[in-house]
Amino acid sequence: MGSYLPCAATSLHLLLLLASSEAAAAAAAASASLSAGGHRRYHSIFNFGDSFADTGNKPVAYAWYPLPSNVMRPPYGETFFGHPTGRSSDGRLILDLIAAGLGLPFVPPYLAHGGSFGGGANFAVAGATELDAGFFHDRDIPGAGSKFPLNTSLDVQLAWFESLTPSLCGTAQGWHAKRAAECEEFFGGSLFFVGEFGVNDYFLFLKKRSVRQTRSLVPLVVKTISMAIRLMKHGAKSIVVPGMIPSGCSPPALTSFYGRAGPADYDARTGCLRGINELASHHNSLLQDALHELRCCQYDSEYRSSLIDRSV
Ligand SMILES: *[C@@H]1O[C@H](CO)[C@@H](O)[C@H](O)[C@H]1NC(C)=O
Repeated sequence: MGSYLPCAATSLHLLLLLASSEAAAAAAAASASLSAGGHRRYHSIFNFGDSFADTGNKPVAYAWYPLPSNVMRPPYGETFFGHPTGRSSDGRLILDLIAAGLGLPFVPPYLAHGGSFGGGANFAVAGATELDAGFFHDRDIPGAGSKFPLNTSLDVQLAWFESLTPSLCGTAQGWHAKRAAECEEFFGGSLFFVGEFGVNDYFLFLKKRSVRQTRSLVPLVVKTISMAIRLMKHGAKSIVVPGMIPSGCSPPALTSFYGRAGPADYDARTGCLRGINELASHHNSLLQDALHELRCCQYDSEYRSSLIDRSV
């Protein structure tokens, strides 16, 4: 079940969506966005993440390295757009359905879109990790001179967002406080998604480490989500943090463990990898705790200090 964490002290909303209920949660987000008069509550969506939500950044990011990007050929895009769009899907992503449900346009990919981002921007890149690329490269993961993970972590995506903000708000002349208030109003009316993140961190780690060693990475990956505080400082009030899918059922996991895993490693009922699914539920459980901490404790103190900064 997705759980909604109402916040009385501030108007900040943090939601954790688990994959099993993403559709229901999306519908809830859509209906929550309509006020009594049927007016649109959110005027834009800003999204951070990986291939689950990349609406077209991958071909550009991969071209920097240069690496081949499979998503620009069929069957990608075949069942909905009629042509490849850079999404890692033959059709729409959950993010596309949420945007449509909110009456908003598809969220334009930051690296590939030539126009304005006043209606939102998508910073997600397929293959993105939550932890910085250097963390993996320093440990020679995945090794053999691999360029992965690319330099598209959450921190990098947040920096892209921050480089965009002067074009979206805070253009008023004069007092810093006035510019900040303008941004607070703009981003207060935006819906933010931070994630899903983590699946790529774990899959990369698993190339060189055991499931048990990879499990020890979970607290660090989850802790990194607290970087989302940077969004709140810009005025974000509604942030959705999607949880991890049961990734032990995903084709990449099943393929990479094929031949390596023994019969006992598989769930007899589902055929999924038990250890990897347990890793995912451990991630989701720590993520719930981290979001609670962020909402109740860290945010309030950071928010107060940012208010103090603004008044000087
Ligand atoms: C990663 O990207 C960021 C933002 O584009 C840049 O500032 C940083 O230098 C890059 N890091 C590496 C290791 O390339």
